[in-house]
Amino acid sequence: MLTFSRPELPALVVQAPAKLNLFLEILGKRADGYHELETLMITVGIYDTLSFTEEDSEEIGLRVVDAGRRSASLRAESELIPTGSENLVVRAALLLRQFAGLKRGVRIALWKRIPAAAGLAGGSSDAAATLVALNRLWKLGLATSELCSLAGQLGSDVAFFVTGQSAAVCRGRGEIVEPMTLPFGMHFVVVRPHSGLSTAAVYRNFKPAATTKQAEGLVEAFQSGRLDRAGETLHNALEPTACELNPDVKRVKSELKKLPVLGELMSGSGTACFALCANQAAARQAAARLRAMGIGHAWEVTSRP
Ligand code: C5P
Repeated sequence: MLTFSRPELPALVVQAPAKLNLFLEILGKRADGYHELETLMITVGIYDTLSFTEEDSEEIGLRVVDAGRRSASLRAESELIPTGSENLVVRAALLLRQFAGLKRGVRIALWKRIPAAAGLAGGSSDAAATLVALNRLWKLGLATSELCSLAGQLGSDVAFFVTGQSAAVCRGRGEIVEPMTLPFGMHFVVVRPHSGLSTAAVYRNFKPAATTKQAEGLVEAFQSGRLDRAGETLHNALEPTACELNPDVKRVKSELKKLPVLGELMSGSGTACFALCANQAAARQAAARLRAMGIGHAWEVTSRP
């Protein structure tokens, strides 16, 4: 769930989590140019923070605040984040306001910690948080299903975050969300190499494999409580394309493979990769080792209940 803190204050504060794709299969190209997919997504504990304050004017203003990140490359990237209508947060606010037929303004501050162009859906999660928060701040009373249909206009995985689910199998472009329950918490190490990848470029260069896989195998591993089996069933059809386009992904993946982990994978369209670890101590050790290598920014994260 999205968490709201200190609702008695005029500013509404929301934590927007990152996601990992534990499974992603491309089932074909659609007439609208998008790809039909089946993906299993979970939210993990890397967060952007957004605060929303009512504004007397009709202005929708976005400010990106330094979230005090240690990595210079990630800090430099967040300085490049646009604050105009190219930003999904602003687009979400404009879309919601237009849908509701309102003339309200809002001041939004964004503490960016989820790196862009990483396959962690930071921008999508921020957009979803904006829809949910402004529905509340502007007292619109829109149902989750209505917010999800607006979410679909903003991006393929925005609806997943609007539902507030911590895990789901998503189909269609990614906007058809079937919630699922994870039977156990999971510990991961996540590494974002120093460079990113454009989602559109990865999909454009994707070459279909001879056969496709189904998320069912991973879902069954969860249902039977088999963490080891889950690690063996991780799959992302976009990974070979991303490795071809960006050698950093290949390097990070091969370093993850050398660690004592249950399985490793690229998330979404990359470039972030992750490994499923047996426990928190293993994830912590893996993160420390990867940090020492300097191949990117490494986090030790857990799945969300
Ligand atoms: O929907 P979103 O804006 O996140 O997608 C970014 C780009 O990724 C799209 O413009 C499209 O090129 C590609 N994409 C795709 N099929 C999907 C999701 C995304 O081809 N299911």
